[in-house]
Amino acid sequence: MARRKKIYEGKAKIMYEGPEPGTMVQYFKDDATAFNAEKKAVIEGKGVLNNRLSEFFMTGLTQIGVPNHFIKRLNMREQLIRSVEIIPLEVIVRNFAAGSMCKRLGMSEGTPMPRPIVEFCYKDDALGDPLVSEEHIIAFGWASQQDLDDMISLALRVNDFMSGVMLAVGIKLVDFKIEIGRIWENDFHRLIVADEISPDSCRLWDIETGQKLDKDVFRRDLGNLTDAYTEVARRLGVLPTNVTHAPKPTLIN
Ligand code: TMP
Repeated sequence: MARRKKIYEGKAKIMYEGPEPGTMVQYFKDDATAFNAEKKAVIEGKGVLNNRLSEFFMTGLTQIGVPNHFIKRLNMREQLIRSVEIIPLEVIVRNFAAGSMCKRLGMSEGTPMPRPIVEFCYKDDALGDPLVSEEHIIAFGWASQQDLDDMISLALRVNDFMSGVMLAVGIKLVDFKIEIGRIWENDFHRLIVADEISPDSCRLWDIETGQKLDKDVFRRDLGNLTDAYTEVARRLGVLPTNVTHAPKPTLIN
C-alpha cells in the first residue's frame, strides 16, 4: 500500500493528503496539551471521542446550513474533510466568564455575559496566541472586513446551535473556540468552519452540578478526561457502546 503524505502535524491532530484534490484526512491523536504545550499527556481514547464528537457537531451544523469542512468519517480516528486555507485566528465565543476572560478582566468564573462576546486571538504559538482587535486583523491583512463580518456571523450561528444542543442534554456551553478557513472558487472565496469542535475546544459544565466536562479537567487536574468526554458523548447519543474502553486484544495460543 502506498504511504500517504503527511501535510501537517499539530498538537492534537495530523493532516494527510486526501484521496481527491481539495480533500484531506484529519487524524485525531490521543495527545492532550495545555498552556501552549507546557503540559502534555497521552489520554487513551480522546482521539476516538473527539473524532466522533466533531463529526456529530459538524453534521448538525450542515443540517442547519452552517458551512463546514466535514465530509465523512472514515474510521475510529479519521475523517475526510475539505481542505481550506486556515485564517490565522482563533475565534472564541463566550456566554459565561471563564479562563482567560476571568484572568484578564478579574471576573468571577461563571458570570453570565450580557450577550455572547466574540474574541479573536492571533494563531502564533511562539507568541502564545495573543488576543487581537478587529483593527489589527484588518490592518495586518489577516482577514478583510467582509471576512470579519462573515466570521462573526458563523461564530454566532455555531454558538446558537451548540448552546441548544448542549442545553438539551443538561450541559451549559460556557465558551468555545473555532477556526475558520477559506475555500476558493475561481477568484472568489467563501468561509467555512474548519478544524474541530470537541470538548478540547469548548467549556462544558453540567447544569445541575457545575461539573466540568471539557479540557479544563486536564488543564486543572480535576479528574479523568476520557470519562468527562465519554459522558458528553453518552448524553448526546454518540457512542452508545463504550468503544473507547474496549479491552485490549489477547493473544490466543
Ligand atoms: P481561554 O479562556 O483560555 O481564552 O479559552 C477560551 C476557549 O477557547 C475555551 O473554550 C478553550 C478554547 N481554547 C482552545 O480551543 N485552544 C486554546 O489554545 C485555548 C487557549 C483555548
